[in-house]
Amino acid sequence: MKIEKASPKIGAIVTGLDLTRISDPDWRVLYQAWLDHLVLVVRDQEFTVPQFLAVAERFGRLTPHRVLRTRDPEYPALTRMGTGTKKPDGKVDKAVFARGQGWHTDGPWEVRGVSKATQLYGLELPSVGGDTWFANMYASLDALPDALRQRLEGVTAEYVYGGRDGLGVDLLDPSDRDAPPVAWPVLRTHSETGRRSLYFNPYHFLRFVGMDEAEGNALFDELRGRMIQEDAEYHHQWRRHDYVIWDNRCSNHAAAGGYPIEERRIHWRATILE
Ligand code: SIN
Repeated sequence: MKIEKASPKIGAIVTGLDLTRISDPDWRVLYQAWLDHLVLVVRDQEFTVPQFLAVAERFGRLTPHRVLRTRDPEYPALTRMGTGTKKPDGKVDKAVFARGQGWHTDGPWEVRGVSKATQLYGLELPSVGGDTWFANMYASLDALPDALRQRLEGVTAEYVYGGRDGLGVDLLDPSDRDAPPVAWPVLRTHSETGRRSLYFNPYHFLRFVGMDEAEGNALFDELRGRMIQEDAEYHHQWRRHDYVIWDNRCSNHAAAGGYPIEERRIHWRATILE
């Protein structure tokens, strides 16, 4: 197994490893590399669905994603990304197509536990574009001006699926639409590394607890403007059979789009809780 940095501040590329047959010593090295680099790309993996889900279970607890339409009927913990993008009339459903575009961390609205990680497996890729971008949120916290950092001490944000505008809520099962908000400190401590990072998702954001609307809106705009550090990004260009797993507690990511809407981009996805 070889592990090489993907960029100076985030991401590592792993080669020479079959994740379905990993030894315990290699697993320990790999897991530590994941905590250190936040995103791992393991090349050339061959998975069945149960094998893909078994790898996820080594990282944490599997949970079905709230969006129903792309959930596999036989394996509820498997989301088939890139499917269900067409409406019955054959037109592209932009709400599904655009899922994941814009910087975010996955699942701050999750009521069942901390959204630890997300893993994707690339199966069908477009001829151009379709990258996934990652950003180191420890670096984002380090880069905040001192005054803003001090102001954020003790500030908590509440999240619900779809945020203030309810975007994408129509993709959910009706029973999931009324889930209560989930609150997280904006300066959040990672349970395994003990390090603090900026933790912020503008798309599912509802409000800052105890802050009036005008002050909250101003802080939202400021954080949104500062939440990504360009020198702490990694832009992943997918190869078929790449397996990628990222730590949602200390990284943000974005689907870069930029591929022809009529081309297929299919990934298996699994959501992992602490
Ligand atoms: C996601 O935002 O969870 C998926 C990213 C991607 O499709 O590249």
